[in-house]
Amino acid sequence: MKDKNLLRIVVLISGRGTNLQAIIKACNKNIDAKVVGVISNQINAAGLNIAHKNKIAFDAIEHKKFKSRDEFDDQLQKCIKKYNPGLIILAGFMRILGKKFINQFKGKILNIHPSLLPEFPGLNTHKRALEEKKKKHGASVHFVTEELDGGPVVMQATVPIFDYDNEETLQHRVLEKEHIILPQSIDWFSKGRLYLGDNNKIYFDEEVLKSPIQLKE
Ligand code: GRF
Repeated sequence: MKDKNLLRIVVLISGRGTNLQAIIKACNKNIDAKVVGVISNQINAAGLNIAHKNKIAFDAIEHKKFKSRDEFDDQLQKCIKKYNPGLIILAGFMRILGKKFINQFKGKILNIHPSLLPEFPGLNTHKRALEEKKKKHGASVHFVTEELDGGPVVMQATVPIFDYDNEETLQHRVLEKEHIILPQSIDWFSKGRLYLGDNNKIYFDEEVLKSPIQLKE
């Protein structure tokens, strides 16, 4: 497949980048997509090394150097545009993006979130699931809209919570699933099987998706 036919992806990260690695692996193997740029808001993010090792262009835009959220978002937007992406993936990107930014790329941003949304939006999802003595937990891929972790959910994977679990073991179990459902969603998007309609509903194979697609346990 020639490069021009590949979906161009920009991945935004803040940390270690295991989801970035999973996306790159899937693109090298069986997805008609290519990570053309990686942008981190943390200059020390380990994920930038993953970009470097895979010969992918990368940028660090440190949010703390900007006076306001809008100024950071504007710079981020400019940086993203230079890669001319068809899809932006938030893969452990720990900044809230403003409305202007999100609307600029509406329907083109997917986020991976470590919970079964709408349960546990926000931070510390594994801790909260353990504290609430949940029996099940998981991960969700969703389109990004103005509402934090509130956009329509494409796909979810569920994992059990065992009595002996702590945050680390649970995080590990969930992360393994993240590495499956994020590349899977990107694959569908790249094939045009998945998109966000103007009505904010997800279309999958031209039908409105009534509930998130569940990864088989
Ligand atoms: C993942 O758990 C993701 O769901 C959350 O942040 C974490 C990022 O992990 N948004 P990594 O940087 O991809 O390893």
